Amino acid sequence: MQNPETPESDPRSHWDAIYSAAEPSRLSWHQQFPLESLELIEASCVDAESPIIDVGGGASSLADCLLHRGYGRITVLDCSAAALDHARRRLGPMAEEIRWRVGDVRSFRPGEKYMLWHDRAVFHFMVDASDRRKYLDTLDDCLEADGHVVLGTFALCGPSRCSGLEAMRYDEPLISELFAPRFRVVSTMLSRHETPSGQPQDFMFFYMKRASG
Ligand SMILES: C[S@@+](CC[C@H](N)C(=O)[O-])C[C@H]1O[C@@H](n2cnc3c(N)ncnc32)[C@H](O)[C@@H]1O
Repeated sequence: MQNPETPESDPRSHWDAIYSAAEPSRLSWHQQFPLESLELIEASCVDAESPIIDVGGGASSLADCLLHRGYGRITVLDCSAAALDHARRRLGPMAEEIRWRVGDVRSFRPGEKYMLWHDRAVFHFMVDASDRRKYLDTLDDCLEADGHVVLGTFALCGPSRCSGLEAMRYDEPLISELFAPRFRVVSTMLSRHETPSGQPQDFMFFYMKRASG
């Protein structure tokens, strides 16, 4: 059954309204610096010339940081054009070096493969099993056979709602079960995010590989 709070088939208007109403630095998930994501991406040892996608990247500065670290093939996908406009404006001329894609992760079929898939705070909005299946099908379709997954979600002790929507909370057994048999969890990291208004939010980061990889 469709969750009544989930923007039905198209989440664009919900997220566009949020990004049009406030500066990104005031949004609860805003990070000055995406420390955990960068640590896990660098620990994966993915080559700087390998394609990386930030799914639901929004206005995050992860793409800026990756560019500064020499990663040369970065794609940012988000359902909200308004979110990506914020990021493009912030980057200025450097925005040309990034491939921006407006689309829904559940149906995204870019026709190319990525070596690393990064998602901070998108998968946990997939509260319906059918949406989680679609998300996993996209991941499976887009990721190279020896690719890497860095996934950040709310932890079990994290919030159950965000930006007016219900959110799932995860630990390693739950993610392992959902991503099996295609992916296996290699390592996890618990981290406490402080929102711009000073509220703590507990996140879990999962580093995954294909089960056969
Ligand atoms: C909580 S924000 C996190 C943004 C960014 N990852 C960060 O850490 O700052 C969730 C993002 O996911 C995007 N989003 C939500 N549902 C989506 C979907 N089905 N497909 C693509 N993007 C989606 C939203 O527009 C928003 O930018």
